[in-house]
Amino acid sequence: MYAGKARAYTNIALIKYWGKKDEQLILPMNSSLSLTLDAFYTETSVYFGEALTEDTFFLDGKKQDLKQTAKISKFLDLVRQQQNISLFAKVESQNFVPTAAGLASSASGLAALAGACSVALNLHLSKTELSRLARRGSGSACRSIFGGFSEWQKGDSNQNSFAQQIPSNKWEDELAMVFVLVDDGVKDISSRDGMRRTVETSSFYSGWLETIDTDLETAKQAILEKDFIRLGEVTEANGLRMHGTTLAAVPPFTYWSPESLNVMQLVRTARQQGLPCYFTMDAGPNVKILVEKKNVTALTQFLAEHLSEKQLITAYAGPEIALIPLERLEEK
Ligand code: ADP
Ligand code: DP6
Repeated sequence: MYAGKARAYTNIALIKYWGKKDEQLILPMNSSLSLTLDAFYTETSVYFGEALTEDTFFLDGKKQDLKQTAKISKFLDLVRQQQNISLFAKVESQNFVPTAAGLASSASGLAALAGACSVALNLHLSKTELSRLARRGSGSACRSIFGGFSEWQKGDSNQNSFAQQIPSNKWEDELAMVFVLVDDGVKDISSRDGMRRTVETSSFYSGWLETIDTDLETAKQAILEKDFIRLGEVTEANGLRMHGTTLAAVPPFTYWSPESLNVMQLVRTARQQGLPCYFTMDAGPNVKILVEKKNVTALTQFLAEHLSEKQLITAYAGPEIALIPLERLEEK
């Protein structure tokens, strides 16, 4: 039995990945930049064994159906092919993040799976190699290999499309992200399907591609200069543009709910009252608010006047992936 375990943290993109140019290899249309967070993560164990007769996938203790298991098998096939082995596997995963709710469970989930496979099969991968592998499971997962700020350079081949940590002089330690949970149920349109429909049909998609390089440069410069206002403004504008593309898709769709709009307005009001904070959203109705650590209390107090405190979760910059050695696994 080859066994391995990993813990990976979610990341939220400040400059979004939205659209693939190669569905098979998961090569993105654009580069992206994210912050890895400490509040949400996935722990995954993988066991490859001679005695196993099929792949099985347990998520939060529940055996998953054929469709979910097939996604895992597809990823395991890639690893098996690369390593020239044919053993089936049992995958046990625990999400400390709501699944498929736009809170990046696919990022932490697939990064943890890639990490667990690499431990189980003793692959000794560099962070770059691990990022490349995680990318094949879910694009955003390639960024969860790293702590702090991470940039996924789009590349144009399997070899040169991976994430890396970007220099920040540890500025991330002064930042926070407040999650406003509007709905943690499973969304109707996955990010994968949403971005595919947008690339194929949205007349606004070309506008997205035209502005993305400038947004990325602005964000990187803001990080270097520790310029919070600049980073916040470009984060909010970039997220809004991503969501704008979905409105022109055929058929059109949106991940926003009335509650999301309400929270966006609250963020604008907080800003007008002199509290610097900026929102971003992913493929789901929940809103994430970028704020400096020193202003977290002021922001959460302001939000709590209008929302239930139970809806608010504060996250800080999270660490890189943890690969958990076999000895420790056996101790458990
Ligand atoms: P999210 O916003 O949560 O990332 P997505 O629709 O992008 O939502 O991705 C959700 C999908 O990610 C799930 O349907 C499942 O296929 C996969 N996923 C989530 N958690 C895990 C996990 N722990 N292990 C493997 N795959 C996972
Ligand atoms: C809106 O990485 O979940 O969160 O590569 O198809 O698995 P696949 O998509 P996924 O998409 C994430 C989209 C996003 C923006 C981002 O995280 O950059």
